[in-house]
Amino acid sequence: MPGVALVGTQWGDEGKGKVTDLLAERTDLVVRYQGGNNAGHTIVVEGEHYALHLVPTGILYPHCTPIIGPGVVVDPQVLIEELDALSARGIDTSRLVLSGNAHLIMPYHLELDRVTERRLGKNRLGTTKRGIGPAYADKATRVGLRVQDLLDPKIFSAKLEVALKEKNLILARVYGRLPLDAKEIEEQYLSYAERLRPHIADTDPLVQGALDEGKMVMFEGAQATLLDLDHGTYPFVTSSNPIAGGACAGAGVGPRDITRIIGISKAYCTRVGSGPFPSEADPADAEVLVEVGREYGTTTGRKRRCGWFDAVAGRYAARLNTLTELVVTKLDVLSQFSEIKVCVAYEYDGDRYEHFPPNQTIFNKCQPIYESLPGWSSDITGARGMDDLPKEARSYIETIENLVGVHASWVSVGPGRDEIVQMAG
Ligand code: GDP
Ligand code: IMO
Ligand code: MG
Repeated sequence: MPGVALVGTQWGDEGKGKVTDLLAERTDLVVRYQGGNNAGHTIVVEGEHYALHLVPTGILYPHCTPIIGPGVVVDPQVLIEELDALSARGIDTSRLVLSGNAHLIMPYHLELDRVTERRLGKNRLGTTKRGIGPAYADKATRVGLRVQDLLDPKIFSAKLEVALKEKNLILARVYGRLPLDAKEIEEQYLSYAERLRPHIADTDPLVQGALDEGKMVMFEGAQATLLDLDHGTYPFVTSSNPIAGGACAGAGVGPRDITRIIGISKAYCTRVGSGPFPSEADPADAEVLVEVGREYGTTTGRKRRCGWFDAVAGRYAARLNTLTELVVTKLDVLSQFSEIKVCVAYEYDGDRYEHFPPNQTIFNKCQPIYESLPGWSSDITGARGMDDLPKEARSYIETIENLVGVHASWVSVGPGRDEIVQMAG
C-alpha cells in the first residue's frame, strides 16, 4: 500500500483528527510531519473524547505505530503529559516513536512567543503561545536543540549555554524579563530524557522500510494549507509547511512515496487567530456556526471565526497539494440554514478573482462573490449512505466538488467515528 497524506485545506480544525482516526483502521504507521502542540485533533470514539496535540492519531489503534517525525517541534513536557493522560485511560502508548532529529521547544521559546505577541499589540498574530515560531526560528538559524541532544548531557548543556546566552539578553534587554536559569532547564529536560529514551529513534528508515514493505503509511497533517509558512496568508500563518509537500521533508520520504492525498474541508470555513478571511460570515450567521458546530479551539479554547465555504481557497489547496480526493466534514452543522452561501470568487477593484490573488493587499481587501444554495433543514446525523442524504445536501456536496475540481470520497455528518457517509464514484 502507498503513502497517504491527509492535509487541511483551510485554516485548520477541519476535522483532520476524525478522518485520520477513521482511516487508521487500515493503516500501519501514522506519522506527524510538522507543527507541534499548537495542533488540537479531536477524536470521538463511542462517546469518549480524545484531544491530541502531539501524539499522532494512530495511537488509538493497537495495530498502528504512531511516529513523531523530524519536522515536528516537540515540547517534551507536553508530550509526557499527553502520554500519561492516554495511559491513564487504558491506552498503550509504548508504541510511540519519536524522531531524534525533531527539535525541542524550550522554556525560552514559550516566553518569547508570549512577549512577542504582547509587543505586537493589535498587530499580533494570535498564536497559540506554544513556542512554535521561536522554536522553528532557532531551527532555521541553527541554534536549536534536538530530541537526540537529550541523550547526551554534555552536548545538551553546551548547546543550551550557547542558545540561552542570546535568549537571556533578548528577554532581559528587549523585554525587561528575568533571565532564565540554565541549570534549572538542564535538570528539567534531562529528567524528561529518562522518560522519553525508550521512544527515541531514527524514524526515517522506519517509515521508508514500511513503505518498501508495502505497508500503509499515513502522513497526518497539522494546521492547514492557508496556514502554510510559504503558501498561506503570510504573516498570519504558522511556522511550518502543513501542505502535502511538507510531508516529504518533515517525515523523510520522497515525493513518489505519497500517492494518495486527501484534503479535509469543512462544509463551511473557520479560522482562529488574526488575519484576512474573505468569506467570514456576518455576526448572526457566524454565531449559529459557532454554537451548532461547537467552534471553540481544541488547544486554546478560543472562539473560532466562522464563515462560508471558500471555493477560491479550495481550488488553491487542490492544486498546491495535488489532492486526489476530498473529505467534507461537519455537513450536519449546515442543517440549521435554509439558505447556504458559497464563496465562488473574489472581487477587488472591479476585477473578479477565480484563483488565489497574487498579492496580500488584494486578499486583505477583496470582497467575496457568493452563490446561494437551498438548505435541507433536516437532521442528517443519522445518514450512513449517500441515499440517506437529502437531495439538497447531495447537491451542496456536488457544487463543492465542481468548484474545487476534486471528488469527495467521504462526507462527515457528526463528530463520532461512525458518523460518516461514503460517497459513490
Ligand atoms: P482538526 O484540528 O482538523 O483535527 O479538527 P479539530 O478536532 O480541532 O476540530 C474539529 C471539531 O469538529 C472537533 O471537535 C470534532 O470532534 C468535530 N467534528 C469533526 N467532524 C465533525 C462532523 O462531521 N460534524 C460535527 N458536528 N462535528 C465534527
Ligand atoms: P490544527 O492542527 C487552527 C493558528 C493560530 C495562529 C497561527 C500561528 O488543530 O488544525 P502558532 O501557534 O502556530 O505560531 O500560531 O496559526 N494555528 C491554528 N489554527 N488549527 C490549528 O491546528 C492551528 N495551529 C496554529 O491560531 O493564528
Ligand atoms: Mg484542531
